Order: sequence, then C-alpha cells, then structure tokens
Amino acid sequence: MGEFRIVLLEHGTELWDEHSRRRGMPVDFRSLDRRTGSGSLSHKQPIAKAIGRSARTVVDATAGLGHDSFLLACLGWHVVAMERHPVVGVLLEESVRLAREDAEIMETMGDRLRVQSGDARALLQEQDPPDVIYLDPMFQPRRTSALPRKPAQVLRQLVGLDQDELELFEVARRCARQRVVVKRADDAPPLVEGVDLSHRGKIVRYDVYLPLERGS
Ligand SMILES: C[S@@+](CC[C@H](N)C(=O)[O-])C[C@H]1O[C@@H](n2cnc3c(N)ncnc32)[C@H](O)[C@@H]1O
Repeated sequence: MGEFRIVLLEHGTELWDEHSRRRGMPVDFRSLDRRTGSGSLSHKQPIAKAIGRSARTVVDATAGLGHDSFLLACLGWHVVAMERHPVVGVLLEESVRLAREDAEIMETMGDRLRVQSGDARALLQEQDPPDVIYLDPMFQPRRTSALPRKPAQVLRQLVGLDQDELELFEVARRCARQRVVVKRADDAPPLVEGVDLSHRGKIVRYDVYLPLERGS
C-alpha cells in the first residue's frame, strides 16, 4: 500500500494519496451537493427511488466515507453507516462529528446518521433488521473506459477491492425486511442474478432485490 495523508485545507479535510496534487477525497460532508429540486437531495434521484418511500431504516453496509449514507439521511431515512476499514471508519466518524457542529447541515441531516465500525457481515446479524440494506462494494476497475474520478481512486487504493461482496450480499438478503439495493457501474453486470428492478443514473445504476419469498 502506498502512502496516504490526511490534508487539512482551508475549505476542509481531504484524504490524499502520493499522486494527489490539487484534490483528494473530501473528508467532510460540506462539499457535497445538498441542493434540493434537481440536485442530489431529491426523492426523484435513482438512489432514492431504489430505497423506496415505505422504508424508514437503512443500513449502508459499505459506508466508505459516507457520501451515500449522508445523502440518504438528508433525504429523511434513519441510516446506520457500517465501515470495516479502520482508517476509513475514523474518517467517517470525523465527517459525522463535523456535520453535527454545523447548524445548516444538521437542519438537513438531523440526528439520522449513526456510524458503526466493523464488518457488516457480523454486525447485521447482531441487531434488529433494517428495512433496507444498501451495498456499494468497491467497483472492479473498468478495462475499457476512462479511469474513475480521482477521489474514488484514492479510496480504492486505501481499501483495495471488496473480495467478499457475495458473502455480504447473502447476509444482507437474509436480514433486510424490505429490500437490498446494490449500486453498480452502469456497464457492470449485476452483482447477483435475480434483480427485481433497477433504477438508472448517469453513470451508475441501483439494482433492487426484494425478499426471496416476495421477489421470486
Ligand atoms: C466503494 S466504497 C463505498 C463508498 C460509499 N458508498 C460512499 O458513498 O462514500 C466501499 C466501502 O465498503 C467497505 N466495506 C466493504 N465490505 C464491507 C463489510 N463487509 N463491512 C463493512 N464495510 C465494508 C470498504 O471498506 C469500503 O470503504
């Protein structure tokens, strides 16, 4: 693994790798798009449609730096963000701490985002089942198209690929009350066959798996 730095900038904190020059992975939520209407904070966004209006609780079982968790909490779901990488987990906790100090962010996010450090395969089986389990395992690098955005590369270098994503999916499928949602690159095959519905964004899609007895 290369060298990583946590860089404190005027506009916030970032995670940089040895190749980062002007920007890395933002480590707080203030830089994220919080526009309503046609912005990220809309229930018309594919991620929101994939989670579904009837859900109240969501476990983001692959939270990373928490961008999706934050978005979902801002949209009104009660989110538990699980992250197993110790460094990423600390950075995620820091983002939530900074968010709690920011009155404007708190107004949108409320008290709806909680972090749990550890492996979701175990954590999910130790607690009350959430309505929805959201999975965004580290994408396989694309062979044919352009490299992913720089910040995503930084996280990938730190964490590596998630090799046990199928095992996590199986646990999630057993635990979720309403559905499992898996984020995929637009041109990637489904993580697992048997997708019940998909919601497409510009570069990603959200595959929805309903509980086996209702989905099959
Ligand atoms: C692609 S990143 C997620 C990015 C995130 N959706 C976001 O919006 O910032 C995947 C993350 O899932 C974590 N992860 C993968 N498998 C996990 C597991 N079984 N339990 C907890 N975290 C896991 C990895 O450590 C990595 O940080």
